[in-house]
Formats: sequence, structure tokens, C-alpha cells
Amino acid sequence: MLTIVVLLFIYVCELNGLIPYDGIIHRSSDGSSYAFLSPPNIGNHASFIEEITPSGTLAVAWFSGGEQQPNCSIALSLLELGSQQFKPGVIVSERMNYSNQNPVLYWNNQTQVLHLYHTQQLGHVKESYAQIWHLYSEDRGITWTSPEIFYSTLGGWDRNRIIPTFDKEGLIFPCYNSTLNHLDYSFIFRRSTSTSKFIRINMTESDNLVQPTIIRLDNSEKLRAFFRDRRFQCIYYSDSNDDGLTWTIPKATVLPNNNAAIQAYTLKSGAIIMAFDNLNGTKRSPLTVALSYDNGMTWPYHRDVQIHDDDNSTFIGEYSYPSILQTSWTASDDNDIHLVYTYDRQTIKYVRFHENWVKQQQQ
Ligand SMILES: *[C@@H]1O[C@H](CO)[C@@H](O)[C@H](O)[C@H]1NC(C)=O
Ligand SMILES: *[C@@H]1O[C@H](CO)[C@@H](O)[C@H](O)[C@H]1NC(C)=O
Ligand SMILES: *[C@@H]1O[C@H](CO)[C@@H](O)[C@H](O)[C@H]1NC(C)=O
Ligand SMILES: *[C@@H]1O[C@H](CO)[C@@H](O)[C@H](O)[C@H]1NC(C)=O
Ligand SMILES: *[C@@H]1O[C@H](CO)[C@@H](O)[C@H](O)[C@H]1NC(C)=O
Ligand SMILES: *[C@@H]1O[C@H](CO)[C@@H](O)[C@H](O)[C@H]1NC(C)=O
Ligand SMILES: *[C@@H]1O[C@H](CO)[C@@H](O)[C@H](O)[C@H]1NC(C)=O
Repeated sequence: MLTIVVLLFIYVCELNGLIPYDGIIHRSSDGSSYAFLSPPNIGNHASFIEEITPSGTLAVAWFSGGEQQPNCSIALSLLELGSQQFKPGVIVSERMNYSNQNPVLYWNNQTQVLHLYHTQQLGHVKESYAQIWHLYSEDRGITWTSPEIFYSTLGGWDRNRIIPTFDKEGLIFPCYNSTLNHLDYSFIFRRSTSTSKFIRINMTESDNLVQPTIIRLDNSEKLRAFFRDRRFQCIYYSDSNDDGLTWTIPKATVLPNNNAAIQAYTLKSGAIIMAFDNLNGTKRSPLTVALSYDNGMTWPYHRDVQIHDDDNSTFIGEYSYPSILQTSWTASDDNDIHLVYTYDRQTIKYVRFHENWVKQQQQ
């Protein structure tokens, strides 16, 4: 009887295209693994992944409750090292009638504090009214301080990873301005020591280029930022030779962009991995990862992680807003690159794979 009920349930789920969003990690036949995180609310987007060291816990934050909706809140789900199931997403930052969006997690391994930055504006108002807020957890993501304003200037937005300065004493926090007149541009906050204040540095001629994702090149003071393109054309890049103080005029890369978020990360091998939607125009599929072995000039390896299955009945086919990292630990099966992204705004999908997995689909 139970078996019949279970089989019937699976059949009904398949009929409706429903997938249990339970956080359980499954193996794919292609060697990757995946999970659908368990969201607290309807309308899930803009996930961000961070590793808590030395325990190796993965923390994934995103916004849950619908973009620009009142009561949209920041959710957090944790995966303990060795566990095969993400904990259900719980709300860690909310404000009644406000829309909280674009969480950025930053784990400080020295102080063992997990920081969370995110935007907040009144529900239904434009992004240009947002401010950036900050809260933190001293118990590895379980309890959180009350959010406090980090940057009150209206229109300030975050999205991508905070990186340490070259001397590891300070931080570089990439941000952008979401303006009323759509003349958006990027800037960074830079703090040179662990105690002094963040200063703001506008990124040179970055009009229409937003959500910079910054990587350090050759373990030097040289940085490279990659941008989302508001004009739906391609990913741009800009360089700094002085650890973020000044930036070159952005140039086009060979990668397309659909005016959706991207994220770059430097792997232990020295390769840069880019997670992005591999097309221009307005669609947000496929979600792709690409590898570069020359600091982002050429991208010889691409692999689509998720392609729209054309099921018009239930899915709009949005696979977007990736966040990616390589953990300090390596699981026994060697799958140590971790990617999260928006799964049709229904939930956040997690995919785990290895560098060689990306190379198996060469272009
Ligand atoms: C936001 O949450 C509050 C408290 O739960 C509720 O009273 C209000 O109706 C909610 N607003 C919307 C637009 O759902
Ligand atoms: C939230 O919005 C509702 C409906 O507009 C309003 O009645 C309520 O007073 C608001 N609550 C707060 C705390 O602003
Ligand atoms: C974190 O700090 C510990 C202790 O200071 C150190 O052993 C470890 O290597 C650090 N981990 C990372 C990823 O930096
Ligand atoms: C964004 O630009 C507008 C002008 O278009 C300005 O009023 C606002 O202060 C800027 N905000 C930030 C965070 O730079
Ligand atoms: C950055 O640009 C904004 C808007 O143009 C301007 O108000 C601000 O003064 C600039 N900041 C710096 C540090 O140049
Ligand atoms: C999109 O890419 C195609 C070919 O790759 C190119 O011809 C077209 O101009 C691009 N469109 C935009 C809006 O950049
Ligand atoms: C989805 O819609 C497109 C365009 O409307 C149509 O060409 C396609 O056949 C539809 N796919 C399915 C599976 O219904």
C-alpha cells in the first residue's frame, strides 16, 4: 500500500513537473551532484555561496519572497561537511513591508565571523531607493545581529564576492549604483586595514556596467573585474594595478551577456571559472560555466549546467544569478567546485562538480 502511494506521488510529481525542494544531494550520471534547496517563501533569487572554515560548512544565502515585494527576506541554508542534505532555508534578515535583496556573505577566517550584506528598499519602489545593510553571526550562521545600515546613499547595490586586499589586512567590496535614469555604474568600497573605514572608489567609465566580480591575478596587486552589461551584449572587464585604487577603462571580453549576473572565481589550478548565462539578448538560459587559463582573455572550455527544457506549462526557464567557489576541502569523489543559481525563481539549485567535468564539453 505504502509503495503504491509513494509511486503514485512520484508519478503525480512528474506529471506536474514538481521536484521536491528538500536540499538532498543527488548524484547525476554525468559525475556531478545536485540539490534543490528548501525555500521559506515563494519567489527565490540571487543566491550567494560562502565556505565557513576550518569546518568546511557551506552557507548559501538568497532572497525569498519575490523581487521588490514587501516582506521579501534574506534566507540562509547550511550544509555541514559530510552531510548529504542542506538544512532548510531560514530567514535571517527581514523588515516588514521592505524588500531585502542581493545577499553577499563574507567569512572572516581570522575573527571567525560570518558577515552578511544586502540591499533593502520599501516594497514595490524602484531599486534606486535601496540602501545597503549589514549584519553578522558569531556562531557560524545560526544566530544573527540586528541589521544596521552600512551605506545610506540611495541606489547602492551589492551582488558579488568581497575579497581581501593584497596585504590581507583590508577588504575590497564590489558594488554598483542602480539609478532612476538608468545610468548605472560600478564602484568599490575599499578598506585598507581591519579597523579603518571603507572608502568609495568609482570604477572608471563603467556606465551601463554593473555587479563587478573581482579576482586577483598572479598573487599580485593586480585585480581584474568582470561586469554585467546593462545593454545585453557582452561581459566587460577592467583592471587595477594598484589593488583597487584605480581602474582601467572597461573593454569587452569574448563572452556574451544577457544583462544578468555573473560570477568569477580563481581555482587552485590557477584557472578562472566564470559562471554566466551563455547568450546575449533577454533570455536567462543556458546557465554555463567556462574556464580560462590566461586570466580571462580566452575561454577554451564551456559546459552548460542547465538548459531550458522548453516545458512552457510550469517553467519560465530562468537559470540565472550564479555564485561559485572551490572549497578548501575536497570530497572523496573530488567534486569540489560548488555552484548555486536561481532555478526558475522557484528555488535555488546547487550543483557540485570538478574542474575536469567542465573540460569534458570542449568548444
Ligand atoms: C508583510 O508582513 C506583515 C506581517 O507578517 C503582514 O501584516 C503584511 O500584510 C505583509 N505585507 C504583504 C504585502 O504581504
Ligand atoms: C505595512 O504595510 C501595511 C499595509 O500597507 C500597513 O498597514 C502597515 O502599517 C505597515 N507596517 C509597517 C510596520 O510599516
Ligand atoms: C583559517 O584559519 C586557520 C587558523 O588560523 C588556518 O589553519 C586555516 O588555514 C585558515 N583557512 C583558510 C581557508 O584560510
Ligand atoms: C546614484 O546616482 C544618483 C544620480 O543618478 C545619485 O543621486 C545617487 O546618490 C547615487 N547613488 C550611489 C549609491 O552612488
Ligand atoms: C562617484 O560618483 C558619484 C556620482 O557621479 C559622485 O557623486 C561621487 O563623488 C564619486 N565619488 C568619488 C569618490 O569619486
Ligand atoms: C548577440 O550575439 C550575436 C552573435 O553572437 C551578435 O550578432 C549580436 O549583435 C549580439 N547582440 C547584441 C545585442 O549584442
Ligand atoms: C513552448 O512555447 C514555444 C513558443 O510558444 C513553442 O514553440 C514550443 O513548442 C512550446 N513547448 C512546449 C513543450 O510546449
